[in-house]
Amino acid sequence: MSTTPSHRQRIVSGMRPTGLLHLGHYHGVLKNWVEMQHQHECFFFVADWHALTTHYETPDGISQHVEDMAIDWLAAGIDPRCATVFTQSHVPQHAELHLLLSMITPLGWLERVPTYKDQQEKLKERDLATYGFLGYPLLQSADILIYKADHVPVGADQVAHIEITREVARRFNHLYGREPGFEEKAEQAANKMGKKHAKTYRDLRRQYQEQGSTDAIVMGRALLESQQSLSVGDRERLLGYLEGSGKTILPEPQAALTKASKMPGLDGQKMSKSYNNTLSLRESPESVEKKIRTMPTDTNRVRRTDPGDPARCPVWQFHEVYSDDTTKQWVQEGCRSAGIGCIECKQPVIAAVQAELAPIQQRAAEFEADRGRVREILREGAETARQVAKATMVDVMEAMRFTHHL
Ligand code: TRP
Ligand code: SF4
Repeated sequence: MSTTPSHRQRIVSGMRPTGLLHLGHYHGVLKNWVEMQHQHECFFFVADWHALTTHYETPDGISQHVEDMAIDWLAAGIDPRCATVFTQSHVPQHAELHLLLSMITPLGWLERVPTYKDQQEKLKERDLATYGFLGYPLLQSADILIYKADHVPVGADQVAHIEITREVARRFNHLYGREPGFEEKAEQAANKMGKKHAKTYRDLRRQYQEQGSTDAIVMGRALLESQQSLSVGDRERLLGYLEGSGKTILPEPQAALTKASKMPGLDGQKMSKSYNNTLSLRESPESVEKKIRTMPTDTNRVRRTDPGDPARCPVWQFHEVYSDDTTKQWVQEGCRSAGIGCIECKQPVIAAVQAELAPIQQRAAEFEADRGRVREILREGAETARQVAKATMVDVMEAMRFTHHL
């Protein structure tokens, strides 16, 4: 909103280190990240503190998983020269901002986040009636706001967390965006645009605040965008004054919804560790072959001579991801006429998955053999991230007039 089109968008996203990644992650999330790293300024982090909110009783596995996850990312094509890759807990400012945001966040907001109750239901064997778990979405808000992210690529299940992030940012800006003398400073900033523009700005502001005219706000924003000579601070002041909010210290991020992965699990349901239907990125070629060979098929094809219907078969969904038109036609005809057997039909899928995994596994093996390098990448990423995070904390503490801390 307050960004000009030429501004390189900042992207922030994280993943909890809960074990080896699988093809569902690869097709759903990682390929998307790899693409974005070339177009945007990207911060990708391993959310180890978030893992602790649910696995606090068994934290010993987390450290191993952090590095394994980083290796999977790097193997899948995340390039530390393009994206900043790090571990959440290496940037303590996430926790510091979380603490400050906790002061202004009404309990009801957190209790109402749907994942709070859902996850407690789903993970019944764990006691999730903890302070940390309730704060899960707020820690995520801090993860995002500490980098002033424009966009957060997430799956549909995370949209509520982005929504609360926006609410918390709005509340923060409302409470602390009114620096001493905010109105006067905004009026002075308006004058800096010159008489004519200042008048237009004041008219639009009045139209918006008195009549709620959405046209006026759109035009007002456009006017501010077009004023090249305004400083960033003045522009934000004027934007806040226009909207009646205050200066924007923490910009509201947008969710960039990740398209649901077309990649199904081996049983045709969503690929997920809890369904035990995954192909991991480290799956050996032999295991890929074995798992696909034993995949269920259309249950009507009891005998080789029974015709089948690809629409009723999870193997067909794999063909949809991996096969070209000729192969797909071969499947359609061969299945319906019982011209091909299921093992035969699975062969091209096995080959395609193996071919996709081979270069990933090659790179993973190189990083496995040089874990020092992985740690170095994470250390450097954290250093870069900390610089940005520290600058945000200065803005935050100035806005809160917590200046004895600076
Ligand atoms: N909660 C996210 C998930 O379970 C992981 C996450 C933590 C995250 N912090 C984040 C995602 C910040 C995006 C931005 O998938
Ligand atoms: Fe499924 Fe292929 Fe067998 Fe048809 S031939 S049931 S699409 S595996």
